[in-house]
Amino acid sequence: MRIYIVYENQEPDSKEELLHSRTNLSLIPHSEITKRRSDGYLYFSKGVLKLQLVSVPAMNPLFVSFEHLERRVKDSLFQQNLIKAVGIGRGRRPSVLDGTAGLGSDAFLMASTGTSVSLVERNPIIYELLNDGLKRYELNGSKESEISTRMYIEKRDFLELKDLHYSFDAVYLDPMFPSTKKNSLSKRPMYYLQKFLQEEASEHDMLSVAKSIATKRVVVKRGIHSPNLADHNADLVYRGNSSRFDVYLV
Ligand SMILES: C[S@@+](CC[C@H](N)C(=O)[O-])C[C@H]1O[C@@H](n2cnc3c(N)ncnc32)[C@H](O)[C@@H]1O
Repeated sequence: MRIYIVYENQEPDSKEELLHSRTNLSLIPHSEITKRRSDGYLYFSKGVLKLQLVSVPAMNPLFVSFEHLERRVKDSLFQQNLIKAVGIGRGRRPSVLDGTAGLGSDAFLMASTGTSVSLVERNPIIYELLNDGLKRYELNGSKESEISTRMYIEKRDFLELKDLHYSFDAVYLDPMFPSTKKNSLSKRPMYYLQKFLQEEASEHDMLSVAKSIATKRVVVKRGIHSPNLADHNADLVYRGNSSRFDVYLV
């Protein structure tokens, strides 16, 4: 994919330069957009890093906002399937590794319970969006912003953790699953993410690597009708309307 970093002013500012040095993506002025063939562009709007894809111009750009998730956090957090599936409960705060961080929504919910969550994201652009959202949330001055102090992001491929002797109570995986029309309309950021990544997650080794890292359980999010990850039957399943959480006890 050809993605540019677009700047509005005469010269790129320090944030745009920093983004360029971290991603190696070319910087272009806004006036050049129409002159270049590209798949999309990254830009800062009022301090928020956003990704606009050329193939879906009608959709709002993708960016990370944890503020939008605060309502979900207040809404019977401990009754949510994700929380129960990873083993968080009364007096139980397992350490969690989220091996497919994406936009960080699931990790944020888990961290909201007081659990520490390490996140791994391999796509450099998604990583930048997530990192930007987390940094802004840290600095927003609300009492909820302390949630971000329990989220640690790393840019790398989950499969590389195989030989690194990582150890967590629970490993959580949410590889991309094929979208249905219904969920693509109702969960727009996820649809956008799928459009952008257009790749199958390398599912085959993910379960075995997760099992080598987890000391208690591996939890895999799937579409409600998707096949099991790597064709392995789960020990427990938490079903929702459009997705389910398969739990593999270690
Ligand atoms: C469906 S999204 C995860 C959404 C996330 N649970 C959330 O709440 O926003 C899947 C993400 O996993 C990432 N991913 C897929 N395979 C990966 C791997 N082997 N290592 C690290 N990240 C991976 C993709 O780049 C994508 O951002």
